[in-house]
Amino acid sequence: MKNPRFFPVLLAGVAVLLAACTPKTPQARLAALDPKVDALIAQMTLEEKVAMLHSKTNMSSAGIERLGIADVHYADGPFGIREEGVPNGFQSAGWQLDSATYFPTGSALAATWSEELAYAYGTGMGIEARLRGKDVLLGPAINIQRLPVGGRTYEYLSEDPILSAALSLNYTKGVQDQGTAVCIKHFAVNNQETNRGSVDAQVDERTLREIYLKPFERAVVEGGAMSVMSAYNKVNGDYCSENEHLLNEILRGDWGFKGFVVSDWGGTHSTMGAMLHGLNVQMTGSRYLGQPVIDSIATGALTEQLVDEKVRQILRVRLAVEAVPDDVANTKMTSQPECQQIARAVAEKSIVLLKNEGGLLPLSKDVKKIAVIGQNAVLKTQSGGVGAGVKALYEITPLMGIQRRAGDAVEVAYAPGYKNFPGRRWGPAAADPDPLVAAAIDEPADPELLAEAVALAREADVVIFVGGTNKSIETEGSDRADIDLPTGQNELVKALAEANPKLVTVLISGGPTDLRELEPVSPAILQGWWNGTEGGTALAEVLFGDIAPSGKLPFTFPAKLEDSPAFALGNFPDRSREEDLFTRQYRNEMLGAAAGGLPAAPRQPVSQYTEGQLVGYRWFDTKGVKPMYAFGHGLSYVDFEYGTMKASVGRKAVKVSFPLTNTGAMDADEVVQLYVSRPGAKVEWPAKELKAFARVSLKSGEQKTVRLEIPFDDLRYWNVDKNGWDLEHGRLTLLLGAASDDIRQQAEVSF
Ligand code: BGC
Repeated sequence: MKNPRFFPVLLAGVAVLLAACTPKTPQARLAALDPKVDALIAQMTLEEKVAMLHSKTNMSSAGIERLGIADVHYADGPFGIREEGVPNGFQSAGWQLDSATYFPTGSALAATWSEELAYAYGTGMGIEARLRGKDVLLGPAINIQRLPVGGRTYEYLSEDPILSAALSLNYTKGVQDQGTAVCIKHFAVNNQETNRGSVDAQVDERTLREIYLKPFERAVVEGGAMSVMSAYNKVNGDYCSENEHLLNEILRGDWGFKGFVVSDWGGTHSTMGAMLHGLNVQMTGSRYLGQPVIDSIATGALTEQLVDEKVRQILRVRLAVEAVPDDVANTKMTSQPECQQIARAVAEKSIVLLKNEGGLLPLSKDVKKIAVIGQNAVLKTQSGGVGAGVKALYEITPLMGIQRRAGDAVEVAYAPGYKNFPGRRWGPAAADPDPLVAAAIDEPADPELLAEAVALAREADVVIFVGGTNKSIETEGSDRADIDLPTGQNELVKALAEANPKLVTVLISGGPTDLRELEPVSPAILQGWWNGTEGGTALAEVLFGDIAPSGKLPFTFPAKLEDSPAFALGNFPDRSREEDLFTRQYRNEMLGAAAGGLPAAPRQPVSQYTEGQLVGYRWFDTKGVKPMYAFGHGLSYVDFEYGTMKASVGRKAVKVSFPLTNTGAMDADEVVQLYVSRPGAKVEWPAKELKAFARVSLKSGEQKTVRLEIPFDDLRYWNVDKNGWDLEHGRLTLLLGAASDDIRQQAEVSF
């Protein structure tokens, strides 16, 4: 360069130019690949294009070798990279290096209320996906937990859209920053397993937008989620895999999604519906998006341009995600120490102290003999639950964690206490059935096991009862019949309490359980979740007081199932089983069904969402129903002092700040929560809604200023008349607290 003085000017100019050319949003960055993508499409035959629209194997869809386009490899999440299956099914491929890290399941992650940990979790999943040569992670699973009995509550995050959305966004970014695409699932309104393949979820537009779609919207718009899995169910009449409103109008139209949509496995239903209304890849099989597409183009029913558009959407992702070379993939064990540490960090911050009467926890230094009672203390939870399971490299159970932490100075004795429910059996019966597996979920306590446990409890300084459910009870493919503790656990726990009042209960489950019998007799209760590879380590750390518990409930524990909204309103279970009276009469009288004539018409299962926005705590608060444990609840071993809150209204957000002090004797985290209510609003709102939160780490005695923001965008509502988002300005009551039922301060602002 002749004149060096011009160099910085030139550099600045180039930077400005580059910034102007760089697409602003993550979805626009995907679309920026179009010139390369279109050059490839121009070289493809119709057959090659159509081959990309359906599965190649159970977990892949085709690329085109001659053009250097690699196949797309999928892996199940959402809480660990699933064991490698045989090409055409889910049976184990029998590999040696595919043991993965088992991360805490969805509701456990959500109980951390930590965006940072959600990002780290995504990073861990992304790292292990790449080690296995996978391009697309089938997760995170981000449907709203509508029903306490939901079979996949444990996979999902929360009953609240703001919490779910914040975690979905960070999980998505974590995975994609490692060079793997997420496939957020199950889009949308897949809140029950009962009739999941056919049920029509009937939900009003405002509720759909504000509650059920929120987590998906943030993951797509802000997180740049590259692929989406359509759910099995129907929404307002149409299957999700061919739902114009969901896939074309909202996802692609309103949110600007540029990637591709995969059907849930077996969830494609027609050629024309899928092609016209937004699906890209049929998983699995080619019955609809294989030869019939080619035939439909031949007849003029479909155009090749439409196929090109679908291929373009797939190829954008294929080019954005660098394929892992075959000689690099699967050369190392999937589970990596750094990912195991992430799993442990999440587990440590997820455990919720529900109750701690008399400061029974942490365990006193004087404890010399611990009785650990309950099969959930030794049960491994990495697999089961049908699809989402992990072949974990290792799993520390609660008993192992307690034994290791106790060391030689403290005696730890174990008794199973109850039998476990075996669930459905796949394949032939085991030659050697486990005698500790009960025949029925509601079987009363086993007298022998009970007596053994009580005897042990009597001799111990403290009893740790480890109960809850298992993955045969909470599982994909079916919802629980109720939320009762199974296999006589209530009877057992009452007997244990009589034998030894120093009783700590640890609940190992993914969803809520009915604690009406257990709570009065158990002075200390922890919700311990299905907490991954290091779950037992984290549990022991909390029990022994190495760390303070800091998880908060991501969903409400109803006192009884019937109190929860969908049950209270008779929306679930589906009561529309009764056929319409006139239809029945007509069939009998006119068509001679009485004489054994026509078979009954197949019934369309429906799920009505007439509770609208009143999901979870929104219902309990608005209707004044007291839950067993409220949304956001979770105690610590220390106290936190909430200083006076200052609130102000900026141009785009309501801002709150306040000093928070850890007044206790140990380091601890607090999850602060900011709710709003809207006095005098014309639009109808729940009594209160979560709008911001933060996890704050404080050393003993430390004070920090906490700042929270509520963007105006999060205060909008979906105006059905305008068919768009709208903001009703007015008064806002800010409710700052430690849980939805523990509001410490209020302030009012106008915005
Ligand atoms: C589940 C999905 C899963 C897929 C592939 C389906 O049954 O609903 O969540 O990703 O199977 O295993």
